[in-house]
Amino acid sequence: MPGKILVTGGAGYIGSHTTLLLLEAGYQVVVVDNLSNSSLESLRRVENLTGKEVVFYKADIREKDKLISIFEEHQIDGVVHFAGLKAVGESTQIPLEYYEQNVYGTVSLLKVMQQFNCLRIVFSSSATVYGDPATVPITEDFPVSATNPYGRSKLYIEEIMRDLAISNDAWNIILLRYFNPIGAHDSGQIGEDPQGIPNNLMPYISQVAVGKRDKLSVFGGDYPTIDGTGVRDYIHVVDLSDAHVKAIQKIESLNGVSTFNLGTGKGYSVLQMVDAFKEGAGKAVPYEIVERRPGDIAECWADASLAEKILGWKASRGLQEMVNDTWRWQSSNPNGYKN
Ligand code: NAD
Ligand code: UFG
Repeated sequence: MPGKILVTGGAGYIGSHTTLLLLEAGYQVVVVDNLSNSSLESLRRVENLTGKEVVFYKADIREKDKLISIFEEHQIDGVVHFAGLKAVGESTQIPLEYYEQNVYGTVSLLKVMQQFNCLRIVFSSSATVYGDPATVPITEDFPVSATNPYGRSKLYIEEIMRDLAISNDAWNIILLRYFNPIGAHDSGQIGEDPQGIPNNLMPYISQVAVGKRDKLSVFGGDYPTIDGTGVRDYIHVVDLSDAHVKAIQKIESLNGVSTFNLGTGKGYSVLQMVDAFKEGAGKAVPYEIVERRPGDIAECWADASLAEKILGWKASRGLQEMVNDTWRWQSSNPNGYKN
């Protein structure tokens, strides 16, 4: 039965889409976000699109007192936890910031949840925890490892949550390991709004197409893949968000810790993405093949059949829809939410 969900990091890219779908599914949503990588405009647009209210608190998840007053004010039935830092390269430069915000921030949140006996949480993990997989597709029982502080923070949080579930079997914890989220809501009103130079492929391509950047640097043309460029499992952000709604709907029946891959099961190369963008947006994307990016792997895609079996979830949006929705968002908001 729908209730009240706390969404940490709810003003961000995946958080704003998930907030929208939770509202549409009949949940009330309370968002906690420090706006370090987002703006309130995303949630204003979610309210316009849904005609429903989002209760918002500008707070950092490390500020336990603020979290306590939110839990005092609201009877929270479950938490969807997105808040954290997510740039792999940056994490190698400022590792302590990643451990403090991601790991300590999560511990702070979990302590407050425990204090209020709110024991249901859905956590944003990442396919990065599989390191360089020996084979593809990847199932949830593959060995895990980390090559950078960002990935390690995700692994630590997963382990902390497993320890918690052992300490008290009343916890219901769902770890969602995302593959590569791209795309935007089909209204073109909300989407990904990276600060500065995008780290990820799709926002970079769309900024080239809209004329904000000259050309794409393709990191490596000599991988053992279909055309030498890296292959990833791109998943539409609305499909990904829908998995969170399904997870919240099922969480009470899943005791302890459950782990699911969220991907489509299909991989596309960088050059295939460039072609798909050309097709969908009608814009050429000039590119140049350069050196490999340190830490990148050749290919990675999910076996997401467990999420289908247990959560009743399957990605339904294909590559062209991901590209078209990205372009609708980017072309109608060339400066993101800053207008
Ligand atoms: P995002 O940066 O758009 O969203 C994160 C939100 O959390 C932002 O609104 C930010 O302001 C907020 N935030 C950050 N630190 C906070 C803190 N200490 N207290 C309160 N709020 C804080 O990122 P996203 O792409 O929406 O990612 C959401 C989650 O999914 C992250 O945990 C990320 O690691 C994970 N994830 C993302 C990807 C991806 O490619 N986008 C892949 C795998 C996992
Ligand atoms: N790429 C380029 N040029 C760019 C950006 C990326 O060629 O300017 C290539 C990369 O080399 C890779 C592919 O495009 O082959 C995808 O790269 P992204 O940076 O978009 O995504 P990653 O797979 O490297 O990493 C993403 C998130 C991580 C997360 C991981 C697994 O950034 O946080 O997916 O979920 F851990």
